[in-house]
Amino acid sequence: MLVFKKDVSLQAFNTFGIEAHTRQFISIDSLSTLKEVLEKLKNTPFRVLGGGSNILLTEDYEGTTLLMDTKGIQILDENQREVLVQVQAGENWHKFVSWCLDNDYGGVENLVLIPGSVGAAPIQNIGAYGVELQSVFHSCEVLDIDTLTLKNYTKDHCQFGYRTSLFKTVLKNKCIITQVQFKLQKVPHQLQLSYSVLKEQLQNHPVQNIQSVAQAVSSIRRSKLPDPKEIGNSGSFFKNPIITHSHLVDLQNQNPQIPYYPIDIHSVKVPAGWLIESLGLKGIRKGDAGVHKKQALVLVNYGSASGKEILDLAKEIQKQVWDTYRISLETEVNIF
Ligand code: EPU
Repeated sequence: MLVFKKDVSLQAFNTFGIEAHTRQFISIDSLSTLKEVLEKLKNTPFRVLGGGSNILLTEDYEGTTLLMDTKGIQILDENQREVLVQVQAGENWHKFVSWCLDNDYGGVENLVLIPGSVGAAPIQNIGAYGVELQSVFHSCEVLDIDTLTLKNYTKDHCQFGYRTSLFKTVLKNKCIITQVQFKLQKVPHQLQLSYSVLKEQLQNHPVQNIQSVAQAVSSIRRSKLPDPKEIGNSGSFFKNPIITHSHLVDLQNQNPQIPYYPIDIHSVKVPAGWLIESLGLKGIRKGDAGVHKKQALVLVNYGSASGKEILDLAKEIQKQVWDTYRISLETEVNIF
């Protein structure tokens, strides 16, 4: 029997720890439940929640919130070099990475400790320390919200880019990811050590394998990023902006030390954390809303900030970055 709970607080379901209510709430533990619920909800507003680690709730929601809570990890196929693994959307991402490390399957070790669910991971092509989800993604199954039919999307069709995909653009609000298939490496693994901070961290490590990479990434993350269990946050609040080369040259006149990463011959990516820090905003606090002391790209909730207060701080940052650098900072976090 379907159990819709009424007027539920979402505080425990978003890593910012924002207090906001939803009129109805239901936890989805199987594909058949999901279909049944969507049939019942036809023409009424609803929203799908994964790990709640990339959202900012700025108001109560009058519709139904569906929590994807399907579980299961299954090996579909393997050969001497690779293994194809199918993971249900509601699995916790870090738990899946830990499972890979325990089984010596390589490819996701740089993505350790990222909060959130497996089903949400392809939507923004999660990435960290030189690796993006697309490098291990094989395909995913989605449920079409209109027709309630299942479709399969292979990597070539997902339009993955920096923190984006088909599911964040063309298919936004049109389908729900139900399971994801990953292609992982068996030994010997190809380690991704291109990120300079990671390379440095591993220099003193006697062995280099997927477990030591995961350990190094974990310690870098712990030193910079706040643990949502201690301080509410949603990781990077903004994307790193991509600007033209000529814009960079203009900015270098005033700021010769501005860091950047080449994208192609016309454009470069600039770390938003640097832009924010350069304006003296790192560590500032307005009430319980703040900019993290160790990573300026992360906005934090020190306790009882409202979503609106966090959003006001974000807007203030966007304004100052625009006024000074003529760079428009796009939010990475989804604002509701
Ligand atoms: N920087 C500063 N001050 C800061 C923060 C950063 O000057 O307060 C500059 C430094 O030059 C530093 C550079 O920014 O070298 C890069 O900083 P960091 O390595 O911390 O990475 P990031 O660009 O700020 C991105 C991702 C993170 C991911 C890290 C590591 C985005 C929006 N964020 O952050 O992803 O963990 O790289 O790969 O691309 C997330 O998406 O939620 C997230 C945490």
